[in-house]
Amino acid sequence: LFARDITFLRGAVALDGLPDAGKPEIAFAGRSNVGKSSLINALCGRSTVARTSNTPGRTQELNFFDVNGRLVMVDMPGYGFASAPKDKVDAWTRLVKGYLKGRPTLRRCFLLVDSRHGLKDSDRDMMKLLDQAAVIYQVVLTKIDKLKASEVEAVRARTVDEISRHVAAHPVLILTSSEKGLGLADLRCEIVQLAEA
Ligand code: GTP
Ligand code: MG
Repeated sequence: LFARDITFLRGAVALDGLPDAGKPEIAFAGRSNVGKSSLINALCGRSTVARTSNTPGRTQELNFFDVNGRLVMVDMPGYGFASAPKDKVDAWTRLVKGYLKGRPTLRRCFLLVDSRHGLKDSDRDMMKLLDQAAVIYQVVLTKIDKLKASEVEAVRARTVDEISRHVAAHPVLILTSSEKGLGLADLRCEIVQLAEA
């Protein structure tokens, strides 16, 4: 699925800019700087698909990518950016809520969480939003290359325990490092199944 063409479809800053829903869709959500764009690039085996940055808040629109004409991947703007002005946060909320609630083709949202921090309140707010929108979401821990094995195990256990209490959360947690290529096969496997379902 990821071996061939991945093309940028469009970036949407407002709901009226969304591409028509058609193919099965998956979305990547998470706090700013958690590694959403990096993970999309790593999945695609290229560093140039989604724009990444050291500056939190790099991705400000919903970016749609076509994967082989069979699936659409959505890079979502990050949340939880402390110094974001209120009007920006409001615009984000409108866009993301509207998208999540009105997208029948959205098969799953991958909720990325930095393994160094674990779930934060802003992630819990996002989980609530997803629960309300009835979008199945799967938590993905990122940047595990930054932790020792024992630390990875601790955050894994804590996170699994918490997601087990959410109805719309997929019970399987995925551990990844875009940098080291860890967990990408697991994630690709989930995505291929979603594209074919
Ligand atoms: P926003 O678009 O601002 O919401 O950020 P994002 O979630 O798309 O994050 P992005 O992919 O731009 O990555 C943010 C920073 O984390 C960059 O400096 C990346 O190089 C770094 N990063 C991403 N993934 C990994 C990883 O697996 N390991 C390490 N060590 N660093 C990573
Ligand atoms: Mg990004």
